[in-house]
Amino acid sequence: MVDRRSALCFVSSFFFLSLLLFDCVAVAKQRTRFDELLTLLRLRSTLGLKGTDWPIKGDPCRVWRGIQCDGNGSIIGINISGFKRTRIGKQNPQFAVDPLLNLTRLAYFNASGFELPGSVPYWFGVSLTTLRVLDLSSCSVNGVVPVTLGNLTSLVSLNLSRNSLTGSVPSSLGELSSLSELDLSRNTLTGALPPSFSSLLNLTSLDVSSNYLTGSIPPGVGLLSKLLYLNFSSNSFSSSIPPELGDLVNLVDLDLSINSLSGSVPLEFRKLTNLRNMVIGDNLLSGALPADLFGAMSQLQSLLLRENGFSGNLPDAYWSLPKLRILDIAKNNFTGMLPNSSSGPNADVVDISSNMFYGELTRILTRFSAMYLSGNYFEGKVPDYVLRANASLTRNCLQNEKRQKSSEDCSSFYTAKGLDFDDFGRLSRRTVIILASVGGGIGFILIFILLPILVVLWMRRRGREGQGGGGDRPKPVTEASQPPKGAQTFDLSRLGNAFTYDHLLQATGDFNDANLIKRGHSGSLFRGFLDNGTPIVIKKINTKESKNEGYIAELELLSKAGHQRLVPCLGHCLENEGQKLLVYKFMRNGDLASALFRKSDNEGDGLKSLDWITRLKIALGAAEGLAYLHHECSPPLVHRDVQASSILLDDKFEVRLGSLSEAYVQGDAYQSRISRLLRLPQSTEASSSGAANATCAYDVYCFGKVLLELVTGKLGISSPDNAEAKAYMEEALQYISTNEKELVTKILDPSLLVDEDLLEEVWAMAIIAKSCLNPKPTRRPLMRHIVNALENPLKVVREDTNSGSGSSRLRTNSSRGSWNAAIFGSWRQSASDVTAVQAVGTTSGGSSGRNNNNGNSSSRRRQSSEIVPEPAAYGEDVVLR
Ligand SMILES: *[C@@H]1O[C@H](CO)[C@@H](O)[C@H](O)[C@H]1NC(C)=O
Ligand SMILES: *[C@@H]1O[C@H](CO)[C@@H](O)[C@H](O)[C@H]1NC(C)=O
Ligand SMILES: *[C@@H]1O[C@H](CO)[C@@H](O)[C@H](O)[C@H]1NC(C)=O
Ligand SMILES: *[C@@H]1O[C@H](CO)[C@@H](O)[C@H](O)[C@H]1NC(C)=O
Ligand SMILES: *[C@@H]1O[C@H](CO)[C@@H](O)[C@H](O)[C@H]1NC(C)=O
Ligand SMILES: *[C@@H]1O[C@H](CO)[C@@H](O)[C@H](O)[C@H]1NC(C)=O
Ligand SMILES: *[C@@H]1O[C@H](CO)[C@@H](O)[C@H](O)[C@H]1NC(C)=O
Ligand SMILES: *[C@@H]1O[C@H](CO)[C@@H](O)[C@H](O)[C@H]1NC(C)=O
Ligand SMILES: *[C@@H]1O[C@H](CO)[C@@H](O)[C@H](O)[C@H]1NC(C)=O
Ligand SMILES: *[C@@H]1O[C@H](CO)[C@@H](O)[C@H](O)[C@H]1NC(C)=O
Repeated sequence: MVDRRSALCFVSSFFFLSLLLFDCVAVAKQRTRFDELLTLLRLRSTLGLKGTDWPIKGDPCRVWRGIQCDGNGSIIGINISGFKRTRIGKQNPQFAVDPLLNLTRLAYFNASGFELPGSVPYWFGVSLTTLRVLDLSSCSVNGVVPVTLGNLTSLVSLNLSRNSLTGSVPSSLGELSSLSELDLSRNTLTGALPPSFSSLLNLTSLDVSSNYLTGSIPPGVGLLSKLLYLNFSSNSFSSSIPPELGDLVNLVDLDLSINSLSGSVPLEFRKLTNLRNMVIGDNLLSGALPADLFGAMSQLQSLLLRENGFSGNLPDAYWSLPKLRILDIAKNNFTGMLPNSSSGPNADVVDISSNMFYGELTRILTRFSAMYLSGNYFEGKVPDYVLRANASLTRNCLQNEKRQKSSEDCSSFYTAKGLDFDDFGRLSRRTVIILASVGGGIGFILIFILLPILVVLWMRRRGREGQGGGGDRPKPVTEASQPPKGAQTFDLSRLGNAFTYDHLLQATGDFNDANLIKRGHSGSLFRGFLDNGTPIVIKKINTKESKNEGYIAELELLSKAGHQRLVPCLGHCLENEGQKLLVYKFMRNGDLASALFRKSDNEGDGLKSLDWITRLKIALGAAEGLAYLHHECSPPLVHRDVQASSILLDDKFEVRLGSLSEAYVQGDAYQSRISRLLRLPQSTEASSSGAANATCAYDVYCFGKVLLELVTGKLGISSPDNAEAKAYMEEALQYISTNEKELVTKILDPSLLVDEDLLEEVWAMAIIAKSCLNPKPTRRPLMRHIVNALENPLKVVREDTNSGSGSSRLRTNSSRGSWNAAIFGSWRQSASDVTAVQAVGTTSGGSSGRNNNNGNSSSRRRQSSEIVPEPAAYGEDVVLR
């Protein structure tokens, strides 16, 4: 063998005069054909390869790196993966591989990781017909996938992943009948997966993940019975999962995650008994999962179902899968109690956070070394093995743990299930909660006077029709009832009960002074209880004394415009001539100023502060109330007294706005009439700055202070004319930066314990606060944009900071661009920054850390920022350093 080769070597050396110096005797490789040597040298020059890799004085078949030859000295394989170009070659790198045309036996070409900017030549498919392996992964290739690639019928492996390929997947690829591996992942391919793929019967691995593919998954994929690996993750595939995928019985890895797949998981999946990794998280899947669906998959190691809409119990069989390492079902709607058994092999991670599991934490958890349990309804004591694992436990109903759900929340959940809640281990009844302290000064009383009058005045101006609102569950502003428009009469039946005078006498102990809350301008407020124990607040209006007709306007307002974010009215008693009574719902949690910190009812002493979730909820509720006044009342109403003590809280910490005594019509048109009507003494604020403050932007500013108070826990920031608070505020603003999340921990309320996720929300709220506190009124965001931002706090920080580089995903179809622009209007340096960010998002598809936008979200963003212009004066930002 060696002899024969040596002889051949010797003979052919006549043709290689330049290479005569080589010692052929011990070489087992054939000398390169002379024409192919020249071809390779041309290729070396067009690609700018280094002489150290392909030395001119060496024979390619024998000493060049990455060259494979056949027995006749023909080149059959080229591997330039990992090569570096010469300095000159780096200056203008191109996909210049024309010399390959002359290598008629080339079967293997691997350029993985070698820069080939440019598109795959059209002639590849026409001329390189002997190719069996083509690997162009991570080569910065762009342009479309040429249709002609379908002619490479000998191809066994085609890897085009991690490039910037565009356009659709050509149907002709379905002709590649020998293909065993096809990897098109991490490009920017669009359109549907062609049905012709069902002909790729020899395929064992198919990866089209991280593209912008749309449409449904072709059922024909189920015919590819040799498939071991199937990855459709991170596209925009929609509609339901085809049951035919259940025929892929050899499948080991299945990843359909991060798409928009809906419906349930097909029962046919129970046939996938070889599956090791099942990843279908982050879709729109729903329904219950029967025990025999995944429970019989004896090889299953990871089951990732997170962020879907699955419901029902998680079958016990899933917990006892013999090879399970990872169980991630977070952010679904699973419910039930955990099985109480400790048998089973050890596993790594369980994440069941943000579901509706309840009952006690059980020994099943001993199997896992990491556990995420927050956001459920678990009750009772936390077992040692859970504490040792440093599990996440927040937002449950657990004893002796920080940041749990409210007692009301927990007990109503357990009551609805017909179960007893241990009430955080306190079996005795809670002490009766002290009556809510209501809005500052005479505010609370005037709430019920001033707004109605404003509206009545306004109604008289415009004789239009209106509708009423009812119920007492707060609704989002968007669904809110319309403000009253017209009609002089009103429907008393919409105002709750008509109480008898005797009834209310009884409720208040004959208006006993002990039950008096305060005497105000429009009447006196008393606390009381109805027969069934419902606590109420009653306003007694003496019409003879003060000729106070305000109650009529108030009733009219409440009957027509009783918005869900204003204090609700339960009824009235109008039967007496000189004395009218209005009945309101009792606000169990008082106002924000008193609720933010309260005496702990747990340890006896010490203060307990509101948890973050509740703070966020309160911020959103107050923003909704203000958005109603600003955007849904016409003309817009300005609250003018936004501060913590104006934000009243019901038993579920839903916000009911109070202290409307300062409310003005934006633009001040009715100010004098209203003041006269109410005989308001000119308050210092009204006289000094009344007109200036009668703008929605002033409310937004004050609201910014409330947000800052929620973040920092510093009481009093939002109360007016507090010099100390003002100084603190200015200092605090320096710690709010869109670039640096960690900075915000410097001002974070120390009584708040937040994990990484929540810290992002805190950071977002701080950013919103800062944009509200912009010294330039015109640059403050609108209230309705603030509502949007508080509804999606993570999008505030993730979108702005991670575009083009991070891992955040943009999936919503909302017009987020507009509110985002509003919040960040005062942050961004210039409009071109925004465009640059968008450009990165659309062109950097090939880089590894790409932002996985949906196909058209970048164009969506561009549109929406066109619709909502960024505030005019960029660059001269005062707030930002
Ligand atoms: C070498 O060339 C001869 C003649 O052209 C051919 O018959 C033979 O199959 C070739 N060998 C290889 C390994 O290509
Ligand atoms: C291409 O080369 C890389 C090494 O850089 C290797 O990991 C990869 O498997 C090769 N591709 C094929 C298809 O052989
Ligand atoms: C291709 O070349 C690279 C770098 O020389 C080497 O690491 C790799 O193993 C080669 N791949 C194959 C499949 O030969
Ligand atoms: C490469 O092939 C082309 C035609 O296909 C031919 O004209 C050219 O001379 C060949 N080059 C070499 C170096 O053989
Ligand atoms: C394609 O190439 C990428 C990057 O080199 C690699 O990670 C991947 O495993 C390859 N795909 C196949 C199917 O070999
Ligand atoms: C190559 O593919 C194209 C497009 O699929 C087709 O039109 C053409 O006839 C094919 N050429 C050869 C030589 O097979
Ligand atoms: C499919 O693969 C098998 C072996 O894996 C091979 O024998 C067969 O020829 C291939 N089919 C095609 C159409 O290439
Ligand atoms: C599927 O592809 C995505 C992105 O390309 C990758 O992150 C994920 O790990 C893959 N899934 C599996 C099961 O390999
Ligand atoms: C979760 O399930 C409950 C009933 O069990 C239902 O009221 C609620 O709407 C569900 N939530 C989601 C997000 O599907
Ligand atoms: C689970 O079982 C253990 C031992 O049998 C028992 O002590 C414990 O109370 C059980 N827990 C629940 C929640 O049933």
